[in-house]
Amino acid sequence: MSDARILVDLAAYARNLDTLRARVAPAELMAVVKADGYGHGLLPIARAAVANGVTWLGSLDIATGLELRRAGISQDVAIFAWLLGPWEDYREAIEARIDLGISTTEQLDQIADAGAAIPARLHLKIDTGLHRNGATEEEWPELVRRAVELDRGGVAEFHAVWTHIAEASDEEDSAAIARFDRAVAVAESLGASIRLRHLAASAAGLARSDARFDLVRIGAFSYGISPGGGIAPGELDIVPVMTLAAPVLEVSDGLAELGIGYADGISSAAAGVLDVTIGGRRYPIVSVGFDRIVVDLEGAQVETGEDGILFGPGTHGEATLQEWGDALGTIGEEVVTRLSGRIPREHS
Ligand SMILES: Cc1ncc(COP(=O)(O)O)c(C=O)c1O
Repeated sequence: MSDARILVDLAAYARNLDTLRARVAPAELMAVVKADGYGHGLLPIARAAVANGVTWLGSLDIATGLELRRAGISQDVAIFAWLLGPWEDYREAIEARIDLGISTTEQLDQIADAGAAIPARLHLKIDTGLHRNGATEEEWPELVRRAVELDRGGVAEFHAVWTHIAEASDEEDSAAIARFDRAVAVAESLGASIRLRHLAASAAGLARSDARFDLVRIGAFSYGISPGGGIAPGELDIVPVMTLAAPVLEVSDGLAELGIGYADGISSAAAGVLDVTIGGRRYPIVSVGFDRIVVDLEGAQVETGEDGILFGPGTHGEATLQEWGDALGTIGEEVVTRLSGRIPREHS
């Protein structure tokens, strides 16, 4: 186990959900909890979302969806899985009432062959330009026809049409929304009765009312992670949920060694560009080793056992995740999801 600690502020997470829900209403909010709740801890995050009234969880894969069900997330809460491999056990997923994001007729065949005791709930995905699965416009009519057939046969319920968009430029997103509208119209013309449409993740969901449709799938912003490029969470009315702390283990020769390193997921590129806050003051990171980082005390005194804060909400002078993302040339999501499972998560 690591000497470091990840402190997760569940009250801040709940506040973000409240803020975001109000922003996307009347669309509903799906709390995306993939990748261990973006590194914040799957079950405490999912339970906090449900306790906050969230009725949709995005699990990414079936295994995570099943883990949520086994942990007691009730069937009143819909769980959506959309990254499906060729090996999936659809019967177990369907009977656990995991909604399935479908891109191919082969997946529909597998679902029809699964022999589940209840109908599968299907969300058909149209690729609107991101090219991260989804049916092409050419494949779409056949996918829809086959799903309508399964719906009529009682094997499945044609529940939703959805897509995922780049959220990198307004022009591209507008083109994706137009393609999505066309796909919905085609599906309806082929006899589908669509109960739900969803397209946006955090950025478009917050920025554009025309992207929200019936449901917005929100990950990053719920954790207080802003899109980077200098946009601070405060500008979006969200607060960072995670604080990363590591104790000072040794002080010598004007340097302090802290108990965290690249084996915990800290990039060695942090040396020379980022710092650690100890007792309200920042100290530059001079090196990142296997399970230690070294900071330059610049003549100041710190004590063994004091906590160093690598990043947090920024309210006590510490760096924010956004600063880490910007300094490392990446986004906050990458920094938090790289943090090792060996760092204990403490939820409060
Ligand atoms: C399909 C889908 N929807 C929504 C999200 C949430 O995105 P964000 O973290 O930008 O809110 C993701 C995450 O990448 C995703 O893959």
